[in-house]
Parts: sequence; structure tokens; C-alpha cells
Amino acid sequence: MQMLKFAVLPGDGIGPEVMDVALDVLKAATEPAGIALDFQSADVGGIAIDNHGAALPESTIKVCEDADAILFGSVGGPKWESLPPAEQPERAALLPIRKHFSLFANLRPGLLFKELTDASPLKTERIPDGIDIVCVRELTGGIYFGPKDTQTLDDGDVQASDTMVYKRSEIERILDVAIASARSRSGKICSVDKANVLTTSVLWRKTATEYLAANAPELELSHMYVDNAAMQMARDPNQFDVLVTENMFGDILSDEMGIVCGSLGMLSSASLGTQNNSHGHPFGLYEPSGGTAPDIAGQGIANPCAQILSAALMLRYSFGLNEIAETIEAAVKQTVKDDIRTGDIAFGKPAIGTQAMAQAIIERL
Ligand code: IPM
Ligand code: MG
Repeated sequence: MQMLKFAVLPGDGIGPEVMDVALDVLKAATEPAGIALDFQSADVGGIAIDNHGAALPESTIKVCEDADAILFGSVGGPKWESLPPAEQPERAALLPIRKHFSLFANLRPGLLFKELTDASPLKTERIPDGIDIVCVRELTGGIYFGPKDTQTLDDGDVQASDTMVYKRSEIERILDVAIASARSRSGKICSVDKANVLTTSVLWRKTATEYLAANAPELELSHMYVDNAAMQMARDPNQFDVLVTENMFGDILSDEMGIVCGSLGMLSSASLGTQNNSHGHPFGLYEPSGGTAPDIAGQGIANPCAQILSAALMLRYSFGLNEIAETIEAAVKQTVKDDIRTGDIAFGKPAIGTQAMAQAIIERL
């Protein structure tokens, strides 16, 4: 029997609730194919601070190192908001885990089903068929990880700096991921930068142009300044297909993409590493794009779709099980089509809870 060995890090807030049911869906989808789940759970984020004194304990890293992929919930919450920023769960768990496993490529599908166009703040006539784009964000470089400093100057003023650094090789490897994604889609890549101001962006644009010409001349490459891209995202998101950009621009643009796609409760994400796992596929971390939603945590009403779709991405990228991933995605889509909705996407339709939503998805597998 084939075994899927992965780490389960539910985290805080709604994380554990949506993780529980995502595992049910995963089990129901893989069992008929004779595949068994072999997962180990570990604490991360606020709960790890409470239980182990660190947001990303050594013991949790060990569980992840022993696995072929990580299924991640979400971290953070009001309880830990008074900690110094560098110790807060989001920063102290997410950034180190990305760095530790060299998770350099963050794929965020911007998917809005036709049936859910009401959920978008955009006028329906701008997105008659929904939205289907993908943001490929560089995740382990740039201003997030460059040298940082705070110092008091001679005149008593205080100065702080963050440094944006990129190597050509880091740009090329994220372009490879964008190329693979574009080849499986419409063949269009838009590279987003700020080459009218930033030196790193000048290198980014030059590298993208040369690398695509040499390695993927059949793809259509365009460039856009990030301020314009933010505007275009709000005007006509479907003009994009694959967006590729550096770490901070991707952070901001992917949130904007999230809101134009309606509920964050529907958005999954995959962060892929440089290393292959024991299946010969990239080691990766899979997590919903939304947060811990402390306001509704513990009530059993959170939308589990993003976590379920993230689990589907794990099957696709880290285990090479594309068909089962598609089965799960189709079941989620059918459920929403059948007007079975959690509160965040109900719009006047009756809203059901987390477990009932997952059950409805399982019935449609
Ligand atoms: C994200 C988040 C993180 C980021 C934060 C929580 C550190 O916003 O995954 O997009 O900025 O990368
Ligand atoms: Mg973000």
C-alpha cells in the first residue's frame, strides 16, 4: 500500500477545525486508490509558544524533516499580539520555516468560481466567468531576509533599514516555477517589478527577459511595474494568467488578488522547496491563504475549503497525485455550485458549518 508521509501543523484559531475536516476529505479521496495517510501532528505558532516556549520548536522542525510535505493551518491571534513583533507567531514561525526548508516558491491560485462571482467586490460584469489566475511569489529572498538594522545616529535621531537583495540565480529558479505553471496554463507570464526605481528590479527584469528568451521562447512574457499591477488587478484581474514577482510585491499583490477573488476562505497556497522528497517531487508546505480568524474560531463555522484545496495541492506537487487532486477540486466546486455554503460565501443562502461542508465535499468526490 502506498503511504503518504506528511507533517500536520494545525496552528491557532480556526486552524485545528479546518485541518481536522481537511484530513477527513484527504482520507476519503485517497483510500479508494489504495493510498494510506501516515501523518504526524506538531504544534506551531501561538500554541507552540504556550506549550514549548517557541513558535517553531525544534521538535516541530524534526517532525517536518521526517516528512515528505507539510500541511499547515494558520498561526497567530490576539493572545500573542502583545509580544515583540519578532516573537509573534506569524513572523517567528512562518519566516523561519520557509528559510529552513528553502521554500522559495509560493504559488497562490487566484480562483473565483463562476458560481461565486457575488463574493468578489468587483462588479460581476467585469468577471462574468469568475477569475482564474496564479501568483508565483519568490519567498526566501528580497527585503524579508536582507540585512536589517536599527541605530541611533550622532544627532540623536533613530534610523532603521531593511535591504532588498536578489541574486540572478534566485530570480532564475522562481522563473522556472512560473514557466512550468504557464506551460500548464495559457502560456502567458507577467513579471512584476519596480524597475523604474529599484536596482534589484532592473536585474529582475533583465533576467526575466534573457531567461525566458533562452529557455521558454514559446511563452508570452510581459513586464509591469508593481503600482500599475495593483491597479490592473482591481480593474481586470483576468488580463493576467501567471504573475511572477519578488517577495514583498508578491505578499501585497496576492492579498489584493485574494480579495478580488472573494473570500479568503477559498484560497489555497503551495510553497515549494529546492529539495526533492522521497517520492522525487518537491518538498513543500501547503497552507490556506487566509489567517486564523480569531473572531469565529472554535464555533465550527469556518470555511474549510482553503485548507482542503491546500491538501489537494500537496497531493499534486509533493506526491505527484494530480488525478486525486483534481477529484478534490472538482468536488469542492460542485459543492459550491449546489449552493452548499459556509457563512462567508452564503450571500443569503442558508449557511452550514465546517463539518457539514466537508461532509458535502466528501459526498461529491
Ligand atoms: C503571508 C503573510 C506573511 C508574509 C506574514 C504573516 C509574515 O502575510 O504569508 O503572505 O508576509 O509572508
Ligand atoms: Mg501576506
